[in-house]
Amino acid sequence: MTRSLSGNLVRSVLVIALAFFARNGRTQTSGYDQPYRPQVHFSPSEHWTNDPNGLVFFRGEYHLFFQYNPFGDEWGHMSWGHAISKDMLHWKELPVAIPEKDGVMIFTGSIVIDLHNTSGLCAPKSECMVAIYTGSGDTPQGPRQTQNIAYSHDNGRTWIAYDRNPVLDLHLADFRDPSVFWDDKQQQWVMAVSLPKEHIVRFYSSPNLKEWTQLSDFGPAGDVAGDWECPDLLHVPDSNGKDGGVWALKVGLNPGAPQGGSGEQYFLGSFDGKRFAQSNEPGSHGWTNYGKDDYCAISFNHLPKNQNPVLLGWMSNWQYAAKLPTSPWRGQMSLPRRLSLVRDETGLALKQEPIVTALRSTSIPISAAFGSNKEIDNIHKQITPYELELEFGVNSGSVSGLRIYSDDQHWTEVGFDTQHAEFYVDRSNSGLAVMADFPTRTTAPLVAGRPYDLRLIVDRSSVEAYAQNGTIAMTNLIYPPSQTNKIKFFQSDGKSVMVKGRLWKLHSIWNR
Ligand code: FRU
Repeated sequence: MTRSLSGNLVRSVLVIALAFFARNGRTQTSGYDQPYRPQVHFSPSEHWTNDPNGLVFFRGEYHLFFQYNPFGDEWGHMSWGHAISKDMLHWKELPVAIPEKDGVMIFTGSIVIDLHNTSGLCAPKSECMVAIYTGSGDTPQGPRQTQNIAYSHDNGRTWIAYDRNPVLDLHLADFRDPSVFWDDKQQQWVMAVSLPKEHIVRFYSSPNLKEWTQLSDFGPAGDVAGDWECPDLLHVPDSNGKDGGVWALKVGLNPGAPQGGSGEQYFLGSFDGKRFAQSNEPGSHGWTNYGKDDYCAISFNHLPKNQNPVLLGWMSNWQYAAKLPTSPWRGQMSLPRRLSLVRDETGLALKQEPIVTALRSTSIPISAAFGSNKEIDNIHKQITPYELELEFGVNSGSVSGLRIYSDDQHWTEVGFDTQHAEFYVDRSNSGLAVMADFPTRTTAPLVAGRPYDLRLIVDRSSVEAYAQNGTIAMTNLIYPPSQTNKIKFFQSDGKSVMVKGRLWKLHSIWNR
Protein backbone atom coordinates (compact mmCIF):
# COMPACT_ATOMS: atom_id res chain seq x y z
CA MET A 1 0.00 0.00 0.00
CA THR A 2 2.72 2.46 1.11
CA ARG A 3 4.79 1.31 -1.84
CA SER A 4 1.98 1.80 -4.23
CA LEU A 5 1.20 5.22 -2.68
CA SER A 6 4.78 6.33 -3.08
CA GLY A 7 4.69 4.73 -6.54
CA ASN A 8 1.69 6.91 -7.34
CA LEU A 9 3.49 9.92 -5.94
CA VAL A 10 6.53 9.24 -8.11
CA ARG A 11 4.25 8.75 -11.12
CA SER A 12 2.43 12.04 -10.38
CA VAL A 13 5.70 13.93 -10.03
CA LEU A 14 6.85 12.37 -13.30
CA VAL A 15 3.64 13.36 -15.07
CA ILE A 16 3.91 16.94 -13.78
CA ALA A 17 7.58 17.10 -14.78
CA LEU A 18 6.78 15.70 -18.23
CA ALA A 19 3.92 18.18 -18.65
CA PHE A 20 6.26 20.98 -17.62
CA PHE A 21 8.90 19.96 -20.14
CA ALA A 22 6.32 19.35 -22.83
CA ARG A 23 4.90 22.81 -22.24
CA ASN A 24 8.33 24.35 -22.28
CA GLY A 25 9.05 22.37 -25.40
CA ARG A 26 5.98 23.88 -27.03
CA THR A 27 6.93 27.35 -25.84
CA GLN A 28 10.32 26.73 -27.39
CA THR A 29 8.94 25.66 -30.77
CA SER A 30 6.48 28.53 -30.90
CA GLY A 31 9.24 30.88 -29.69
CA TYR A 32 10.46 31.82 -33.16
CA ASP A 33 14.04 31.23 -32.09
CA GLN A 34 15.01 27.98 -33.78
CA PRO A 35 18.04 27.82 -36.10
CA TYR A 36 17.40 29.80 -39.33
CA ARG A 37 14.09 31.17 -37.96
CA PRO A 38 13.58 34.51 -39.75
CA GLN A 39 13.54 37.48 -37.36
CA VAL A 40 12.23 40.24 -39.64
CA HIS A 41 10.22 38.10 -42.07
CA PHE A 42 6.95 36.32 -41.41
CA SER A 43 6.97 32.54 -41.07
CA PRO A 44 4.22 30.39 -39.57
CA SER A 45 4.86 29.02 -36.12
CA GLU A 46 4.84 25.50 -37.55
CA HIS A 47 4.17 23.58 -40.78
CA TRP A 48 4.37 24.40 -44.48
CA THR A 49 3.57 27.65 -46.26
CA ASN A 50 3.87 28.85 -49.84
CA ASP A 51 2.16 31.82 -51.59
CA PRO A 52 0.76 34.82 -49.69
CA ASN A 53 -3.00 35.10 -50.26
CA GLY A 54 -5.72 37.69 -49.67
CA LEU A 55 -3.46 40.57 -48.62
CA VAL A 56 -5.77 43.32 -47.45
CA PHE A 57 -6.02 46.24 -45.02
CA PHE A 58 -9.31 46.53 -43.14
CA ARG A 59 -10.38 48.36 -39.99
CA GLY A 60 -6.84 49.06 -38.82
CA GLU A 61 -5.45 45.57 -39.48
CA TYR A 62 -3.24 44.27 -42.26
CA HIS A 63 -4.17 40.69 -43.11
CA LEU A 64 -1.77 38.13 -44.46
CA PHE A 65 -3.44 34.89 -45.50
CA PHE A 66 -1.13 32.23 -46.87
CA GLN A 67 -1.08 28.83 -48.55
CA TYR A 68 -0.80 26.51 -45.59
CA ASN A 69 -0.71 22.82 -44.77
CA PRO A 70 -2.15 22.56 -41.22
CA PHE A 71 -0.89 18.97 -40.92
CA GLY A 72 2.77 19.02 -41.84
CA ASP A 73 5.85 20.63 -43.30
CA GLU A 74 5.30 19.53 -46.90
CA TRP A 75 2.87 20.80 -49.51
CA GLY A 76 -0.62 19.28 -49.15
CA HIS A 77 -4.11 19.84 -47.69
CA MET A 78 -3.82 23.41 -48.90
CA SER A 79 -5.80 25.81 -46.75
CA TRP A 80 -5.56 29.51 -45.95
CA GLY A 81 -3.48 30.27 -42.87
CA HIS A 82 -3.97 33.71 -41.36
CA ALA A 83 -1.91 36.39 -39.60
CA ILE A 84 -2.67 40.01 -38.73
CA SER A 85 -0.50 43.05 -38.15
CA LYS A 86 -0.72 46.77 -37.40
CA ASP A 87 2.33 47.63 -39.51
CA MET A 88 2.94 44.81 -42.05
CA LEU A 89 5.99 43.74 -39.98
CA HIS A 90 4.89 42.42 -36.57
CA TRP A 91 2.54 39.52 -37.29
CA LYS A 92 0.26 37.58 -35.00
CA GLU A 93 -0.76 34.19 -36.30
CA LEU A 94 -4.45 33.27 -35.97
CA PRO A 95 -6.20 29.93 -36.52
CA VAL A 96 -6.59 28.58 -40.06
CA ALA A 97 -9.07 30.83 -41.88
CA ILE A 98 -10.32 28.71 -44.79
CA PRO A 99 -9.60 24.98 -44.51
CA GLU A 100 -9.53 22.37 -47.25
CA LYS A 101 -13.01 20.89 -47.51
CA ASP A 102 -14.28 17.58 -48.94
CA GLY A 103 -10.96 17.00 -50.68
CA VAL A 104 -11.09 20.39 -52.41
CA MET A 105 -7.98 22.39 -51.59
CA ILE A 106 -8.08 26.16 -51.18
CA PHE A 107 -5.49 27.55 -53.59
CA THR A 108 -4.20 31.07 -54.04
CA GLY A 109 -6.53 34.05 -54.33
CA SER A 110 -7.34 37.50 -53.04
CA ILE A 111 -9.62 39.40 -50.67
CA VAL A 112 -11.59 42.54 -51.38
CA ILE A 113 -13.60 44.83 -49.13
CA ASP A 114 -17.14 44.95 -50.46
CA LEU A 115 -17.79 48.50 -49.25
CA HIS A 116 -21.31 48.81 -50.65
CA ASN A 117 -22.41 45.21 -50.25
CA THR A 118 -22.52 44.70 -54.03
CA SER A 119 -22.44 40.96 -53.39
CA GLY A 120 -25.39 40.98 -51.01
CA LEU A 121 -23.23 38.71 -48.82
CA CYS A 122 -22.49 41.33 -46.16
CA ALA A 123 -24.94 42.15 -43.40
CA PRO A 124 -27.58 44.64 -44.70
CA LYS A 125 -26.16 48.13 -45.22
CA SER A 126 -22.74 46.92 -44.17
CA GLU A 127 -19.31 46.35 -45.67
CA CYS A 128 -17.51 43.02 -45.40
CA MET A 129 -14.53 40.99 -46.57
CA VAL A 130 -15.01 38.71 -49.59
CA ALA A 131 -12.37 36.14 -50.54
CA ILE A 132 -12.00 34.97 -54.14
CA TYR A 133 -9.92 31.80 -54.39
CA THR A 134 -9.27 28.75 -56.52
CA GLY A 135 -10.83 25.47 -55.44
CA SER A 136 -8.63 22.60 -56.62
CA GLY A 137 -9.96 19.07 -56.52
CA ASP A 138 -10.74 15.90 -58.41
CA THR A 139 -13.98 15.24 -60.25
CA PRO A 140 -15.07 12.07 -62.10
CA GLN A 141 -13.88 13.90 -65.24
CA GLY A 142 -10.42 14.51 -63.76
CA PRO A 143 -8.70 17.32 -61.87
CA ARG A 144 -10.59 20.61 -61.88
CA GLN A 145 -9.76 24.18 -60.81
CA THR A 146 -12.58 26.70 -60.36
CA GLN A 147 -12.98 30.18 -58.87
CA ASN A 148 -15.01 30.45 -55.66
CA ILE A 149 -15.98 33.05 -53.11
CA ALA A 150 -16.42 33.12 -49.33
CA TYR A 151 -17.30 35.98 -47.00
CA SER A 152 -16.56 37.03 -43.45
CA HIS A 153 -18.62 39.15 -41.06
CA ASP A 154 -16.02 39.18 -38.30
CA ASN A 155 -12.94 40.85 -39.80
CA GLY A 156 -11.61 37.69 -41.41
CA ARG A 157 -11.70 35.43 -38.36
CA THR A 158 -14.34 33.04 -39.74
CA TRP A 159 -15.49 32.44 -43.30
CA ILE A 160 -18.67 31.19 -44.94
CA ALA A 161 -18.46 29.69 -48.42
CA TYR A 162 -20.99 31.12 -50.91
CA ASP A 163 -23.67 28.48 -51.39
CA ARG A 164 -23.64 28.72 -55.21
CA ASN A 165 -19.93 28.20 -55.72
CA PRO A 166 -18.11 28.01 -58.07
CA VAL A 167 -18.53 31.45 -59.60
CA LEU A 168 -16.27 30.60 -62.55
CA ASP A 169 -15.75 27.16 -64.04
CA LEU A 170 -14.14 26.59 -67.43
CA HIS A 171 -13.95 22.80 -66.82
CA LEU A 172 -10.17 23.01 -66.81
CA ALA A 173 -7.51 21.26 -64.75
CA ASP A 174 -5.39 24.45 -64.73
CA PHE A 175 -7.21 27.73 -64.16
CA ARG A 176 -6.16 29.53 -61.03
CA ASP A 177 -5.00 32.32 -58.72
CA PRO A 178 -7.68 35.04 -59.09
CA SER A 179 -6.60 38.55 -58.17
CA VAL A 180 -9.53 40.96 -57.77
CA PHE A 181 -9.73 44.74 -57.22
CA TRP A 182 -12.36 47.46 -57.39
CA ASP A 183 -11.98 49.56 -60.56
CA ASP A 184 -13.31 52.90 -59.41
CA LYS A 185 -13.28 54.49 -62.86
CA GLN A 186 -15.50 51.84 -64.46
CA GLN A 187 -17.36 51.05 -61.20
CA GLN A 188 -16.72 47.33 -61.55
CA TRP A 189 -14.81 44.48 -59.94
CA VAL A 190 -11.92 43.29 -62.10
CA MET A 191 -10.36 39.84 -61.86
CA ALA A 192 -7.02 38.79 -63.34
CA VAL A 193 -6.76 34.99 -63.37
CA SER A 194 -4.26 32.63 -64.94
CA LEU A 195 -4.50 29.99 -67.63
CA PRO A 196 -1.05 28.63 -66.70
CA LYS A 197 -0.45 26.25 -69.61
CA GLU A 198 -1.62 28.74 -72.24
CA HIS A 199 0.50 31.58 -70.73
CA ILE A 200 -2.54 33.79 -70.59
CA VAL A 201 -3.83 36.17 -67.95
CA ARG A 202 -7.58 36.43 -68.50
CA PHE A 203 -9.54 39.47 -67.30
CA TYR A 204 -13.13 39.37 -66.10
CA SER A 205 -15.46 42.03 -64.70
CA SER A 206 -18.36 41.76 -62.30
CA PRO A 207 -20.92 44.05 -60.65
CA ASN A 208 -21.33 41.77 -57.60
CA LEU A 209 -18.40 39.28 -57.33
CA LYS A 210 -20.82 36.45 -58.24
CA GLU A 211 -21.39 36.89 -61.98
CA TRP A 212 -18.32 37.37 -64.11
CA THR A 213 -18.02 38.52 -67.74
CA GLN A 214 -14.90 37.84 -69.77
CA LEU A 215 -13.15 41.07 -70.82
CA SER A 216 -9.91 40.15 -72.58
CA ASP A 217 -6.73 38.06 -72.59
CA PHE A 218 -3.11 39.12 -72.17
CA GLY A 219 -0.38 36.76 -73.40
CA PRO A 220 1.50 34.76 -74.37
CA ALA A 221 4.15 37.48 -73.96
CA GLY A 222 7.57 37.94 -72.41
CA ASP A 223 8.89 34.72 -70.91
CA VAL A 224 6.79 31.59 -71.45
CA ALA A 225 9.27 28.88 -70.43
CA GLY A 226 7.00 27.60 -67.62
CA ASP A 227 3.46 27.81 -66.22
CA TRP A 228 2.05 31.28 -65.60
CA GLU A 229 0.74 31.60 -62.02
CA CYS A 230 -0.30 34.28 -59.52
CA PRO A 231 -1.10 37.26 -61.76
CA ASP A 232 -1.67 40.69 -60.23
CA LEU A 233 -2.71 43.90 -61.98
CA LEU A 234 -2.03 47.12 -60.14
CA HIS A 235 -1.76 50.82 -60.73
CA VAL A 236 1.72 52.17 -59.93
CA PRO A 237 2.20 55.92 -59.44
CA ASP A 238 5.31 57.69 -60.73
CA SER A 239 8.04 57.88 -58.05
CA ASN A 240 8.29 61.69 -58.35
CA GLY A 241 4.52 62.10 -58.36
CA LYS A 242 4.65 63.93 -61.71
CA ASP A 243 2.17 62.02 -63.83
CA GLY A 244 -0.43 59.32 -63.61
CA GLY A 245 2.02 56.41 -63.45
CA VAL A 246 1.33 53.14 -65.25
CA TRP A 247 -0.44 49.84 -64.82
CA ALA A 248 1.76 46.90 -63.93
CA LEU A 249 0.81 43.32 -64.64
CA LYS A 250 3.02 40.83 -62.82
CA VAL A 251 2.91 37.09 -63.30
CA GLY A 252 4.82 34.17 -61.80
CA LEU A 253 6.68 31.74 -64.06
CA ASN A 254 7.44 28.20 -62.92
CA PRO A 255 9.65 26.39 -63.78
CA GLY A 256 12.04 27.92 -66.30
CA ALA A 257 12.69 31.38 -64.85
CA PRO A 258 16.07 32.79 -66.02
CA GLN A 259 17.62 32.38 -62.56
CA GLY A 260 16.28 28.80 -62.37
CA GLY A 261 12.97 27.41 -61.15
CA SER A 262 10.35 29.95 -60.09
CA GLY A 263 10.53 33.64 -61.01
CA GLU A 264 8.35 36.68 -61.53
CA GLN A 265 8.11 38.95 -64.55
CA TYR A 266 6.24 42.21 -64.99
CA PHE A 267 4.79 44.16 -67.87
CA LEU A 268 4.14 47.91 -67.70
CA GLY A 269 1.42 49.54 -69.77
CA SER A 270 -2.17 50.73 -69.67
CA PHE A 271 -5.52 49.31 -68.61
CA ASP A 272 -8.71 50.86 -69.96
CA GLY A 273 -11.16 48.88 -67.83
CA LYS A 274 -11.23 46.07 -70.39
CA ARG A 275 -7.78 45.34 -71.72
CA PHE A 276 -4.19 45.53 -70.52
CA ALA A 277 -1.81 46.77 -73.25
CA GLN A 278 1.95 46.60 -72.81
CA SER A 279 3.72 49.91 -73.43
CA ASN A 280 6.30 50.03 -76.23
CA GLU A 281 8.68 52.17 -74.16
CA PRO A 282 11.97 50.48 -73.17
CA GLY A 283 11.80 48.81 -69.77
CA SER A 284 8.15 47.78 -70.12
CA HIS A 285 9.16 44.14 -69.49
CA GLY A 286 11.30 43.23 -66.49
CA TRP A 287 11.67 40.92 -63.51
CA THR A 288 10.02 41.72 -60.23
CA ASN A 289 12.87 39.86 -58.58
CA TYR A 290 16.23 38.74 -59.98
CA GLY A 291 17.01 36.41 -57.08
CA LYS A 292 15.83 32.83 -56.75
CA ASP A 293 13.53 33.29 -53.78
CA ASP A 294 10.60 35.56 -54.33
CA TYR A 295 7.54 33.97 -55.87
CA CYS A 296 3.82 34.65 -56.21
CA ALA A 297 4.04 38.13 -54.75
CA ILE A 298 0.71 39.95 -54.62
CA SER A 299 -0.32 43.45 -53.57
CA PHE A 300 -2.43 44.57 -50.61
CA ASN A 301 -5.99 45.57 -51.42
CA HIS A 302 -7.81 48.49 -49.85
CA LEU A 303 -4.72 50.31 -48.54
CA PRO A 304 -5.41 53.68 -46.92
CA LYS A 305 -5.83 56.41 -49.57
CA ASN A 306 -2.73 57.82 -51.31
CA GLN A 307 -0.55 54.87 -50.37
CA ASN A 308 1.43 53.35 -53.19
CA PRO A 309 0.87 49.63 -53.75
CA VAL A 310 2.73 47.20 -51.51
CA LEU A 311 3.88 43.82 -52.80
CA LEU A 312 4.80 40.79 -50.66
CA GLY A 313 5.97 37.40 -51.93
CA TRP A 314 6.83 33.87 -50.85
CA MET A 315 10.56 33.67 -50.18
CA SER A 316 11.27 30.33 -51.79
CA ASN A 317 11.52 28.46 -55.07
CA TRP A 318 9.67 25.32 -56.16
CA GLN A 319 13.03 23.76 -57.15
CA TYR A 320 13.91 23.11 -53.51
CA ALA A 321 11.08 24.48 -51.33
CA ALA A 322 10.35 21.03 -49.88
CA LYS A 323 14.01 20.46 -48.98
CA LEU A 324 14.68 23.55 -46.89
CA PRO A 325 16.37 22.58 -43.62
CA THR A 326 13.99 24.23 -41.15
CA SER A 327 11.78 22.82 -38.45
CA PRO A 328 9.02 22.87 -37.21
CA TRP A 329 8.05 25.23 -40.07
CA ARG A 330 8.94 25.43 -43.75
CA GLY A 331 8.51 28.61 -45.81
CA GLN A 332 8.66 32.33 -45.14
CA MET A 333 7.51 35.61 -46.72
CA SER A 334 9.54 38.46 -48.18
CA LEU A 335 9.45 41.90 -46.63
CA PRO A 336 6.61 44.10 -47.84
CA ARG A 337 7.85 46.43 -50.62
CA ARG A 338 6.38 49.73 -51.64
CA LEU A 339 6.14 50.15 -55.40
CA SER A 340 6.58 53.17 -57.60
CA LEU A 341 7.54 53.82 -61.19
CA VAL A 342 10.92 55.11 -62.32
CA ARG A 343 11.04 56.97 -65.63
CA ASP A 344 14.56 58.01 -66.68
CA GLU A 345 16.78 58.18 -69.81
CA THR A 346 16.89 54.37 -69.86
CA GLY A 347 13.12 54.03 -69.91
CA LEU A 348 10.64 52.64 -67.41
CA ALA A 349 11.29 50.45 -64.39
CA LEU A 350 9.44 49.25 -61.34
CA LYS A 351 11.00 50.55 -58.14
CA GLN A 352 10.69 48.57 -54.88
CA GLU A 353 11.47 49.90 -51.41
CA PRO A 354 11.42 47.44 -48.52
CA ILE A 355 9.25 48.51 -45.62
CA VAL A 356 11.66 47.87 -42.74
CA THR A 357 12.75 51.20 -41.26
CA ALA A 358 10.38 50.80 -38.29
CA LEU A 359 12.61 47.91 -37.13
CA ARG A 360 15.82 49.94 -37.10
CA SER A 361 17.66 50.12 -33.80
CA THR A 362 21.24 51.34 -33.17
CA SER A 363 23.39 52.20 -36.17
CA ILE A 364 27.01 52.58 -37.23
CA PRO A 365 28.06 55.03 -39.97
CA ILE A 366 30.24 53.72 -42.79
CA SER A 367 32.34 56.20 -44.70
CA ALA A 368 35.72 55.28 -46.07
CA ALA A 369 37.83 54.40 -49.04
CA PHE A 370 38.47 50.68 -49.21
CA GLY A 371 41.09 48.95 -51.22
CA SER A 372 41.23 45.37 -52.33
CA ASN A 373 39.75 43.00 -49.73
CA LYS A 374 40.07 45.55 -46.95
CA GLU A 375 38.17 44.58 -43.86
CA ILE A 376 36.09 47.12 -42.00
CA ASP A 377 36.92 46.85 -38.36
CA ASN A 378 34.07 48.77 -36.82
CA ILE A 379 31.36 46.63 -38.33
CA HIS A 380 32.92 43.34 -37.36
CA LYS A 381 30.71 40.81 -35.68
CA GLN A 382 27.29 41.90 -36.70
CA ILE A 383 24.60 39.56 -35.53
CA THR A 384 21.60 39.07 -37.77
CA PRO A 385 19.17 40.65 -38.42
CA TYR A 386 20.63 43.92 -39.73
CA GLU A 387 20.33 46.29 -42.63
CA LEU A 388 23.04 47.97 -44.71
CA GLU A 389 22.39 51.08 -46.75
CA LEU A 390 25.36 51.83 -48.98
CA GLU A 391 26.48 54.01 -51.85
CA PHE A 392 29.43 52.75 -53.89
CA GLY A 393 31.76 54.94 -55.89
CA VAL A 394 32.20 52.23 -58.51
CA ASN A 395 35.24 52.26 -60.84
CA SER A 396 34.40 51.35 -64.41
CA GLY A 397 35.65 47.99 -65.64
CA SER A 398 35.89 46.53 -62.15
CA VAL A 399 33.96 44.64 -59.52
CA SER A 400 33.11 46.32 -56.23
CA GLY A 401 31.12 44.89 -53.42
CA LEU A 402 31.13 43.15 -50.11
CA ARG A 403 31.40 39.72 -48.62
CA ILE A 404 29.33 38.73 -45.63
CA TYR A 405 31.29 36.06 -43.78
CA SER A 406 29.53 33.76 -41.31
CA ASP A 407 32.83 31.96 -40.62
CA ASP A 408 36.20 31.86 -42.35
CA GLN A 409 35.04 29.41 -45.00
CA HIS A 410 31.51 30.66 -45.69
CA TRP A 411 30.34 33.93 -47.18
CA THR A 412 27.73 35.53 -49.40
CA GLU A 413 29.09 37.98 -51.95
CA VAL A 414 27.19 40.98 -53.30
CA GLY A 415 28.69 43.10 -56.06
CA PHE A 416 28.51 45.57 -58.90
CA ASP A 417 30.39 44.13 -61.86
CA THR A 418 30.76 47.04 -64.25
CA GLN A 419 32.87 44.97 -66.64
CA HIS A 420 29.98 42.62 -67.38
CA ALA A 421 27.28 45.19 -66.55
CA GLU A 422 25.88 42.97 -63.81
CA PHE A 423 24.69 43.31 -60.28
CA TYR A 424 24.95 39.98 -58.47
CA VAL A 425 24.46 38.03 -55.27
CA ASP A 426 26.58 34.90 -55.01
CA ARG A 427 25.49 32.40 -52.37
CA SER A 428 27.39 29.44 -53.79
CA ASN A 429 29.58 29.36 -50.70
CA SER A 430 27.12 30.69 -48.13
CA GLY A 431 26.53 27.56 -46.04
CA LEU A 432 24.27 24.50 -46.43
CA ALA A 433 23.99 23.61 -50.11
CA VAL A 434 20.43 22.17 -49.67
CA MET A 435 20.57 20.55 -53.15
CA ALA A 436 22.19 20.97 -56.56
CA ASP A 437 19.99 23.89 -57.69
CA PHE A 438 20.64 25.90 -54.54
CA PRO A 439 24.25 27.19 -54.59
CA THR A 440 24.00 29.88 -57.22
CA ARG A 441 25.05 33.34 -58.32
CA THR A 442 22.05 35.38 -59.43
CA THR A 443 22.48 38.41 -61.67
CA ALA A 444 20.59 41.45 -62.91
CA PRO A 445 21.57 43.83 -65.72
CA LEU A 446 23.29 46.99 -64.42
CA VAL A 447 22.09 50.23 -65.95
CA ALA A 448 24.93 52.75 -66.42
CA GLY A 449 22.90 55.88 -65.69
CA ARG A 450 21.45 54.65 -62.41
CA PRO A 451 23.18 54.99 -59.02
CA TYR A 452 25.31 52.21 -57.54
CA ASP A 453 23.37 52.15 -54.32
CA LEU A 454 22.47 49.14 -52.27
CA ARG A 455 20.13 48.21 -49.47
CA LEU A 456 20.73 44.81 -47.91
CA ILE A 457 18.54 43.18 -45.32
CA VAL A 458 20.34 40.24 -43.77
CA ASP A 459 18.16 37.90 -41.73
CA ARG A 460 18.98 34.49 -40.27
CA SER A 461 18.29 32.66 -43.53
CA SER A 462 18.04 35.29 -46.26
CA VAL A 463 19.65 38.23 -47.98
CA GLU A 464 17.29 40.72 -49.61
CA ALA A 465 19.11 43.16 -51.91
CA TYR A 466 17.76 46.34 -53.52
CA ALA A 467 20.07 48.16 -55.90
CA GLN A 468 20.10 51.01 -58.43
CA ASN A 469 17.38 53.13 -56.86
CA GLY A 470 15.27 50.05 -56.09
CA THR A 471 14.95 49.10 -59.77
CA ILE A 472 16.74 45.81 -58.99
CA ALA A 473 15.34 43.55 -56.27
CA MET A 474 17.23 40.32 -55.58
CA THR A 475 16.10 37.97 -52.83
CA ASN A 476 18.00 34.82 -51.92
CA LEU A 477 17.78 32.32 -49.08
CA ILE A 478 20.99 31.29 -47.32
CA TYR A 479 21.72 28.72 -44.58
CA PRO A 480 24.96 29.95 -43.00
CA PRO A 481 26.83 28.11 -40.22
CA SER A 482 26.55 31.04 -37.81
CA GLN A 483 24.57 34.25 -37.31
CA THR A 484 27.63 36.32 -36.43
CA ASN A 485 28.88 38.07 -39.56
CA LYS A 486 32.04 39.83 -40.59
CA ILE A 487 31.70 42.23 -43.46
CA LYS A 488 34.52 42.89 -45.93
CA PHE A 489 34.40 45.31 -48.82
CA PHE A 490 36.43 44.64 -51.94
CA GLN A 491 37.42 46.13 -55.24
CA SER A 492 38.70 43.78 -57.93
CA ASP A 493 41.44 45.93 -59.41
CA GLY A 494 42.92 46.89 -56.06
CA LYS A 495 42.20 50.58 -56.56
CA SER A 496 40.48 52.32 -53.74
CA VAL A 497 36.73 52.70 -53.86
CA MET A 498 34.48 54.92 -51.80
CA VAL A 499 31.75 53.32 -49.76
CA LYS A 500 29.40 55.44 -47.73
CA GLY A 501 26.39 54.47 -45.74
CA ARG A 502 25.11 53.05 -42.52
CA LEU A 503 24.50 49.75 -40.81
CA TRP A 504 21.40 49.33 -38.66
CA LYS A 505 20.79 46.61 -36.18
CA LEU A 506 17.16 45.47 -36.67
CA HIS A 507 14.71 44.56 -33.93
CA SER A 508 13.17 41.12 -34.16
CA ILE A 509 9.47 41.14 -35.07
CA TRP A 510 8.76 38.38 -32.56
CA ASN A 511 8.12 39.29 -28.94
CA ARG A 512 9.94 36.50 -27.26
C1 FRU B 1 2.10 28.85 -56.93
C2 FRU B 1 0.96 27.86 -56.81
C3 FRU B 1 -0.34 28.50 -57.24
C4 FRU B 1 -1.36 27.66 -56.53
C5 FRU B 1 -0.66 27.37 -55.23
C6 FRU B 1 -1.00 26.04 -54.64
O1 FRU B 1 3.11 28.70 -56.02
O2 FRU B 1 1.26 26.73 -57.59
O3 FRU B 1 -0.51 28.55 -58.64
O4 FRU B 1 -2.57 28.33 -56.36
O5 FRU B 1 0.72 27.44 -55.49
O6 FRU B 1 -0.46 25.88 -53.38
